[in-house]
Amino acid sequence: MTVEPFRNQPIETFGSEEARREMREALKRVRAEFGRHWPLYIGGEWVDTGERIPSLNPSAPSEVVGTVAKAGKAEAEAALEAAWKAFRTWKDWPQEDRSRLLLKAAALMKRRRRELEATLVHEIGKNWTEASAEVAEAIDFLEYYARQALKYKYPSVEVVPYPGEDNESFYLPLGAGVVIAPWNFPLAIFTGMIAGPVAVGNTVVAKPAEDTPVIAAKAFEIFHEAGFPPGVVNLLPGEGREVGAYLVEHPRTRFINFTGSLEVGLWIHQAASRLAPGQRWIKRVFLELGGKDAILVDETADFDLAAEGILVSAYGFQGQKCSAASRLILTEGAYEPVLERVLERARRLTVGPAEENPDLGPVASKAQEEKILSYMEIGKGEGQLVLGGKRLEGEGYFLAPTVFTEVPPTAKIAQEEIFGPVLSVIRVKDFGEALEVANSTVYGLTGGVYSRKREHLERARREFHVGNLYFNRKITGALVGVQPFGGFNLSGTDTKAGGPDYLLHFLEMKSVAERF
Ligand code: NAI
Ligand code: MG
Repeated sequence: MTVEPFRNQPIETFGSEEARREMREALKRVRAEFGRHWPLYIGGEWVDTGERIPSLNPSAPSEVVGTVAKAGKAEAEAALEAAWKAFRTWKDWPQEDRSRLLLKAAALMKRRRRELEATLVHEIGKNWTEASAEVAEAIDFLEYYARQALKYKYPSVEVVPYPGEDNESFYLPLGAGVVIAPWNFPLAIFTGMIAGPVAVGNTVVAKPAEDTPVIAAKAFEIFHEAGFPPGVVNLLPGEGREVGAYLVEHPRTRFINFTGSLEVGLWIHQAASRLAPGQRWIKRVFLELGGKDAILVDETADFDLAAEGILVSAYGFQGQKCSAASRLILTEGAYEPVLERVLERARRLTVGPAEENPDLGPVASKAQEEKILSYMEIGKGEGQLVLGGKRLEGEGYFLAPTVFTEVPPTAKIAQEEIFGPVLSVIRVKDFGEALEVANSTVYGLTGGVYSRKREHLERARREFHVGNLYFNRKITGALVGVQPFGGFNLSGTDTKAGGPDYLLHFLEMKSVAERF
């Protein structure tokens, strides 16, 4: 098999009239399909059920983007059965052939790129560039894992020779696992969590988030067209607490690949550790959870550069990224100049229907809106509200970009994940204190430092305890293959998605010795 070296997909920023026209047309085409229904996908067949889940447009929640069938226990059983049946042959496919299927899926995704972007705009309220970045990331995962998987081909493990014996070790896939995804990267994270295990011979049952089943169904149209054998990938939209929990606790679930909230992640960790009747293995559990990510700026920094990066990191996709900056830690000398620049830029941000490509679209759902508004209220008692702090006019879930200053490091809005456009600014006396405050939450996902002082950067490199650290740039938008992504502490199990070791999580090593 000959493949070009991996390269990240370019992200469209819609600077050209040509690209803008394409996007407007794609948005219209997807809008014309509003209300379409997608069944479940089990064992290579589209299967309908009685119940339906509507997916709403958060820019205008009276609009139903589409509906999907809702899976229950019977469908979960059927999907696991199909996945195990498929595993019997998929595990023995030549690695090149499996990788080729991922590359085919990537090619199909590239062909439908604008449509997928438009779907993300309508279904979850991403602006155009955010949507483009996400589709690029989904393609990257397929392309990257297709190539990485070739590393684990039989007999790929180097062992020490031993006299009189033939010794070899090789990797085997685990079996049928469950993928449970969040709504905030409903194409990229969903695709990546499926593509990784599947690339190396596992099969999966995938449950998308309740708010984003339509983009998941489109991903499955692509997997179907790419030609994955029946049962290798199965789509099971449904309630997390019902079908999700059922799959987690099921004795036939071999591994769980989860991205989502801390609360649900901890429950899954516990539930998966209880042996179910008939269960014959210890489930492997991968959890990528929340963050309370901080950007530190010291007095030597380029303040304009810092303000630009802070804005993108805090308010990109309305702050609904696990990597989003939600704490801004400023040393005495940086406090006034940085705050002034951040506020000046934040005041100019536009908020509105995602279709119109504003800086900020709506937040994802009524539940998200309520949660974020409640944190805004809490913040008013904990710090000084200097910008936003409220809902904006319109049918959609539009929230104002918000800044609280003089926030104590121990405040709720400095400790808990808000997952919205809310930035808590914390004043510290020097860089040492800045690092101490940065490391003072239960999380450890991303972090950033703006400084021109080498000594500060090197100290942060060692002491800032996060899985993904960025200097003098934004702290969001990790690129597949370039910045392997995963968090420390309660941010997760540090699986490092898009990294060179990711696929090893879904393999086990067998050692065979023969004495002659
Ligand atoms: P969530 O935890 O509410 O839901 C995630 C998924 O779990 C959904 O599909 C949901 O239906 C399912 N679920 C809920 N309860 C379940 C249960 N008892 N058993 C099995 N499945 C269950 O998270 P949400 O709101 O969808 O996503 C936002 C969260 O995800 C944030 O905390 C964010 O930080 C985190 N996240 C972490 C990332 C990372 O790489 N560390 C990346 C993206 C998001
Ligand atoms: Mg929706």
